[in-house]
Amino acid sequence: MSLEDAKKLAGNAAVDKHVANGMRVGVGSGSTIEFSIQCIANKLITGDLKDINCVCTSYQSTLSCQEHGIPVTTLDDPRVNGHLDVAIDGADEVDANLNLIKGGGGAHTQEKIIASAADQFIVVADERKRSMKLGEKWAIPIEIIPASLNVVLKRLKAAGAEPVLRMAEKKMGPVVTDNGNFIVDANFGIINNPADLECKLNCIPGVVENGLFCNMATVVYFGMLDGSLDMLRK
Ligand code: A5P
Repeated sequence: MSLEDAKKLAGNAAVDKHVANGMRVGVGSGSTIEFSIQCIANKLITGDLKDINCVCTSYQSTLSCQEHGIPVTTLDDPRVNGHLDVAIDGADEVDANLNLIKGGGGAHTQEKIIASAADQFIVVADERKRSMKLGEKWAIPIEIIPASLNVVLKRLKAAGAEPVLRMAEKKMGPVVTDNGNFIVDANFGIINNPADLECKLNCIPGVVENGLFCNMATVVYFGMLDGSLDMLRK
């Protein structure tokens, strides 16, 4: 089975098992969530799903939902009122306790807000995302206010990280997020206490949000390259 087929398996499973008529659905970012978006769109066409409203975590997923004819709204819509039935999103790294590193696409601030507003936070990934401990594969993406760059870099180095300002491709200079901020990728090596580090990073002045998502995911679906579906549940 190809990697794309493994992502599709996970993306479809999340919709099949967790999205029902009338739900307000948070939609994450990345390539795996595209399969969930396609699945929702197909079910709306066939009538297997009705009356769905999606709140998106990025311009990427907003545009994709709109292209697929899926109704898109915001957390401030009175019908939503800051509460979602379910949020579905990808991840960059997942540990055995369902803690995550996210933000490979620079969208983790909205992703965390939307996940926190949902009754269930469902993660869709392929098997490459699985780690024993976070930090084995990814640095932590940290969204920062541009004027705080040097202050934040010093603080991260003092905390033992190797921080790098994320540079754009097909644009001069750094990545600028959907919120108009910079991203610093901070490599801390293996992270033994991710929940503690998640709180500490957000205490640095200038940090908007970091990509550690601890104790948030309720279920993770892994599409496996052998064609099977694996699951981690709280
Ligand atoms: C976006 O900022 C990330 O948190 C994504 O959810 C993550 O990078 C997953 O992307 P893929 O599904 O493309 O791996």
